[in-house]
Amino acid sequence: MSGSDEPSYSENELYENADAGRHIALIGSEMEYSEEIVAQLGDEQLQAEWEKYLAYSYERQGLRSLVQSVLRKKSPQRQVNANDLAEGGLTATKVGENEVLLAKVDGKIYAIDNACGHLAYPLNEGRLNGHVVTCIWHFARFDVRTGAVVSAGIDFENLKPLEVRVFPDNSLGIDEKP
Ligand code: FES
Repeated sequence: MSGSDEPSYSENELYENADAGRHIALIGSEMEYSEEIVAQLGDEQLQAEWEKYLAYSYERQGLRSLVQSVLRKKSPQRQVNANDLAEGGLTATKVGENEVLLAKVDGKIYAIDNACGHLAYPLNEGRLNGHVVTCIWHFARFDVRTGAVVSAGIDFENLKPLEVRVFPDNSLGIDEKP
């Protein structure tokens, strides 16, 4: 699939085009690879596939984020009173067009954007632990006092550390850690 074949939607088009979600899903099914096919590709083809995949992936990420932000703007107005929110609870309200997360910790109510800083998923559907809210989509965590990122989401795994020895001739020996 070339970049020029890919759809691009403005925010207004997403509001107007009821079929947008179905079209995006069809594009996604074209990008599936099997392990066998990838193993047979030559170096140039692998590089070309990788570049195609990156372009596709950035575009999809942008679209997911855009869809979520349109959903947040279209959500109904919600009037919330201080007593509606239990200790340790989360809820959402609107300030103008923007959805805002409310969190109550130690009797104090904090407010930050309700769109996760990753792909804008609503944080009021997440979990609150102390002052930290966890997004339930990819588990990014934010401090409700400041809005700061506490940790990134699930795409991160620890890497295996290896033992490095430097020999007298400056060559390196790299081994599994004991
Ligand atoms: S949308 Fe929240 S972690 Fe991905």
